Amino acid sequence: MIHHSHRAFQSGKLHCILPSLPQNSAMAVSVSVFLGFFVGLVVVGLASSKKFDELFQPSWATDHFLYEGELLKLKLDNYSGAGFSSKSKYMFGKVTIQIKLVDGDSAGTVTAFYMSSDGPNHNEFDFEFLGNTTGEPYTVQTNVYVNGVGNREQRLNLWFDPAKDFHSYSLFWNQRQVVFMVDETPIRVHTNLENKGLPFPKDQAMGVYSSIWNADDWATQGGRVKTDWTHAPFVATYKGFEIDACECPVSVAGVDNAKKCSSGVDKRYWWDEPTLSELNVHQSHQLVWVKAHHMVYDYCTDTARFPVTPVECVHHRH
Ligand SMILES: *[C@@H]1O[C@H](CO)[C@@H](O)[C@H](O)[C@H]1NC(C)=O
Ligand SMILES: *[C@@H]1O[C@H](CO)[C@@H](O)[C@H](O)[C@H]1NC(C)=O
Repeated sequence: MIHHSHRAFQSGKLHCILPSLPQNSAMAVSVSVFLGFFVGLVVVGLASSKKFDELFQPSWATDHFLYEGELLKLKLDNYSGAGFSSKSKYMFGKVTIQIKLVDGDSAGTVTAFYMSSDGPNHNEFDFEFLGNTTGEPYTVQTNVYVNGVGNREQRLNLWFDPAKDFHSYSLFWNQRQVVFMVDETPIRVHTNLENKGLPFPKDQAMGVYSSIWNADDWATQGGRVKTDWTHAPFVATYKGFEIDACECPVSVAGVDNAKKCSSGVDKRYWWDEPTLSELNVHQSHQLVWVKAHHMVYDYCTDTARFPVTPVECVHHRH
């Protein structure tokens, strides 16, 4: 919950990536309940996966990067963690990375995958994987910052061991919603509630980032379990980098990027298709299942922290 301060020391965020491919997996799935699943698989296989270097660059501790063919490994030891960022910034679309988290004893470590804009009023969509002692479940914490304000943590324990194999983690973002997905299953939706007077992140381009660092003051079992450095180095492995989003030149003003990245009469981005303005029925059921069986913390129901339920929690349908 405190993670942002931890991130401050990690060097700069980078930005991003390549423009993108028009087709998209998760969304293809939503088009047809039937064929969708099959189409989704095919698209994931062929589509947009890029080499690390095409989209990203190390942002700090380049000596803690290991390149092994298609795999990228980030290492955390008692000297340093490591992080990377996209070469470009983006607005709207979908970003996916496949990650195999630190195996064995990962207590005290945090591996993060997130998108963020810059500045005090930044927006941010976070996945943070909180390590655990051997055999105990990893916890995935997600958060959403809007105009510099976060405090929207949710936590879940996954339905698989994320350190055993690669799994895909995605952020889908359009003018209507931000969807966090694990292997294409939605685990969180942040809906546009501007009609209820709430701000929605839609006017700042965001970079894409990932990092691993030591957070044993808070990450594992509330900070009670410390990093055991005799088990270092702690290694997170990455592959399958995909960015299918509207690229925003850094030199261009925010409003112009927002215009460029919005669908209009002259162009239509796939993420603005009406079918993607909310989850489809199948995805809604998946989200209900995740919340019922895997969620271990939700700021929306933390009445000690929020005696008055946050407004978006009242309105979010899920
Ligand atoms: C880091 O760990 C290595 C290997 O265990 C050890 O030799 C070294 O002294 C440690 N360095 C620091 C700064 O703790
Ligand atoms: C670690 O494992 C403990 C015991 O099973 C669990 O309570 C906790 O939620 C897990 N995750 C973290 C980040 O501590």
